[in-house]
Amino acid sequence: MTIDDDSQRGRGAAEGGEVSSMSRARSTKRDLERYAGLFASRTRVMKSSAMREMMAVIARPEVISLAGGLPDTGSFPRDTFAQVTARIAQESCAAALQYGPTEGLESAHQCIAQVMAAESIHVDPEDLIVTTGGQQAIDLVTRILVDPGDYVIAEAPTYPGAAPVFSSYEANVIQIEMDDDGMRVDLLEETLDRLERKPKFIYTVPTFHNPAGVTMSLPRRKRLVELAQQHEILVLEDNPYGLLRYEGVPLPTLRELDGGVYVMYLGTFSKILSPGIRLGWLVAPAPILEKVNLGKQAADLCSSTLSQLMVEAYFEQTRWRDYVESLTEIYRARRDTMLDALAEHFPPEAEWTRPQGGLFIWVTLPDFIDTTDLLARALRENVAFVPGAGAYLDGRGQSSMRLNFSASSDDDIREGVRRIGKVVGEQVALYGTLTGEARRERERAPGPVEVEGGGRIVQLPSRRPGEGRAHRS
Ligand SMILES: Cc1ncc(COP(=O)(O)O)c(C=O)c1O
Repeated sequence: MTIDDDSQRGRGAAEGGEVSSMSRARSTKRDLERYAGLFASRTRVMKSSAMREMMAVIARPEVISLAGGLPDTGSFPRDTFAQVTARIAQESCAAALQYGPTEGLESAHQCIAQVMAAESIHVDPEDLIVTTGGQQAIDLVTRILVDPGDYVIAEAPTYPGAAPVFSSYEANVIQIEMDDDGMRVDLLEETLDRLERKPKFIYTVPTFHNPAGVTMSLPRRKRLVELAQQHEILVLEDNPYGLLRYEGVPLPTLRELDGGVYVMYLGTFSKILSPGIRLGWLVAPAPILEKVNLGKQAADLCSSTLSQLMVEAYFEQTRWRDYVESLTEIYRARRDTMLDALAEHFPPEAEWTRPQGGLFIWVTLPDFIDTTDLLARALRENVAFVPGAGAYLDGRGQSSMRLNFSASSDDDIREGVRRIGKVVGEQVALYGTLTGEARRERERAPGPVEVEGGGRIVQLPSRRPGEGRAHRS
């Protein structure tokens, strides 16, 4: 900061209590110029997560946000929280305020083993590492496996929070298309046969996908595990939502099918307890865990001891599955509200998934609608969603959007969907007026395919003609 900048800020603060936006804009430009040459080259490919970018806008109280992936922490019993924290203060205050082992506290490992058992995975608590959210597990796995230019395989679309991780390690991400049964494993196979180098790992969210809302079928799970074994490729199975099931029967996880040879498994307390405690975990073969441990030492030494003790006290004091059960009741009703609202307010040109669990519905609009532009219009109506482009590293997804149903009341879901439906409808009408194409397309379209349970089959966006293979972002 120069003296010039200092005096600007001083004046701004004295006059208005804060720096004027003009002087802030000027100093920002100067700062950018000053620091531009200092950054590591990898920062050129770093990206902000679509969701993080929007946090400030959607925090405005007048905005109905269907954008976040937030669980409904408002339903967590306050008494339980008070009891848990009081117990830690009384019984383990010094430990809670202290550093802990990098791999996490043994008591936290025991709780994680219980959650894994609920997913029918039986792990030795020694075979895992506690991480600062599942997000850190994605980061650490990428950090220890990926050199710049290495291939990583992900779904198309992929978890929008994984995209910036892969970018920041300069991975060459290949996104494999999905349909209602999850990742197209036949296309994965073709890709593996075609690639001149083995990908470092395959990243997948097979159950209640974020953002697509679909679940990988059992035959595809089996085939994916077979392919991993055949080609000796690691798989990172990311499963934050498996216990949030609203209908249907649980399918075996990839970890269960593989037995833990090639499949690494990532879990989190974020959606079954709280994202605020920032605790996740990774189960992986021992040599991988050793490297991940080294990576974590460099990243943050250890995850919060206080949070781990909170989990321990919570698991001892309550039946944690009861809370998960209560969440599924709430979310099932909200999912249904959103599906009904979509059917009522979205034009016939729109298609969407019908998730059996998790937090998201993926909507695909006609090609001529760009959802990033649409978001600007939607925000003028005080409603937000995540534009689909954030879930791709290869430029696809412009006509899709992710909608979240867990974090809003039924009224807000109905009103939010109505407002988005209105702006979508305006775009469709405008296009129809300008080209006459919409009317002709409607006449040609066979109409949505009804599936069991009343949903419509989704067409996840396909690669556009002339688009090359996924490339480094
Ligand atoms: C698929 C997926 N993976 C990982 C995460 C990261 O979660 P956390 O870091 O809170 O555990 C999320 C969060 O929404 C997610 O949806």
